Amino acid sequence: MNSKKNNIIITGSDGQLGKSLKYFKHNNLKLVQKKNIKFYFLNKKDFDITNKKNIEKIIKIIQPEYLINTAAYTNVKIAEKKKKLAFSINSEGVKNLAELSDKYKYKIIHISTELVYSGIEKSKKIDEKYLLKPSTIYGKSKLSGEKYLKKYCKNFVILRVSWLYSLNSKNFLNYILSNLNNLNFKMIDNALSSPTSCNNLINVIFIIILKKNNLFKKQMIFNICDNGNSVSPFKFTEYILSQLKKLNVNVPKLIKTDFYEYNKDIEKPQYLSLNNSKIKKYISYQPKYWKAEIKNLLKIKYKK
Ligand SMILES: NC(=O)c1ccc[n+]([C@@H]2O[C@H](COP(=O)([O-])OP(=O)(O)OC[C@H]3O[C@@H](n4cnc5c(N)ncnc54)[C@H](OP(=O)(O)O)[C@@H]3O)[C@@H](O)[C@H]2O)c1
Repeated sequence: MNSKKNNIIITGSDGQLGKSLKYFKHNNLKLVQKKNIKFYFLNKKDFDITNKKNIEKIIKIIQPEYLINTAAYTNVKIAEKKKKLAFSINSEGVKNLAELSDKYKYKIIHISTELVYSGIEKSKKIDEKYLLKPSTIYGKSKLSGEKYLKKYCKNFVILRVSWLYSLNSKNFLNYILSNLNNLNFKMIDNALSSPTSCNNLINVIFIIILKKNNLFKKQMIFNICDNGNSVSPFKFTEYILSQLKKLNVNVPKLIKTDFYEYNKDIEKPQYLSLNNSKIKKYISYQPKYWKAEIKNLLKIKYKK
């Protein structure tokens, strides 16, 4: 990162990952100062990625070296009925960012999803060469966005993440924490995913940016998830509740529910465990284990 060009645009800055990036900046002010990084946190109102004319005006002023694209239409179930909207943001919006990157010479870190892949057998994990065959509109729109990046952007890294959680905004962990007064929790037991903490994802993003090891030129694609076994929503919740009990928090009763019953209206793969070996090899980073990360986040939330 040279001293002249150190500006980073973050799109979708009011979302879960955008907010987590704001906390990262706040908690790493020394590093930010030392590396002379200037963050530009831009939300949907200020920087609507579907509006190419407007975003070009802003990009022209900021002259970013990097753009981290967290902006997306993320409601997987509703996307089934809002195909046009999902594609306009997750596909056409990304096309705008990609096309402008050539003119204004910035590099893109784009966040994608495990839902671009086809499902896999229960006992296996998906690596980056696995079959790209999304079954949901959301997955199809995100894959289409990836294709535009490959077509129009010379310098990008795509990070395919799964089941993103943090203490910010809407996500599975916060859903549990804000519903502890329910008497019963119904959670799917016969499906598997790989949880990804925003902290692990953000560490990866900044190692990639600060190491300057040419991953952008090579247009690399990586799976990102926490270390540890993949897990069902039931087991993940069971672990969270067990840790809450240790912190003397009252927890509801946990009941098993069926994947197919819950996903009646959507054709979603049952098993989508990610293999994160490639990123570990390329940047020598060991993501935290999800159990350690959950423990850590609960301590932060419930410390008095
Ligand atoms: N959350 C997960 O479990 C998960 C899993 C796999 C991949 N991902 C990917 O990870 C990334 C970050 O996810 P997240 O959890 O931070 O999602 P999020 O909380 O839904 O944040 C996305 C942000 O993008 C904004 N946005 C929507 N349309 C926009 C537009 N046209 N222009 C600019 N901003 C727009 C949203 O604003 P509004 O809310 O006002 O619409 C929201 O603030 C996304 O690319 C997502 O696809 C997430």
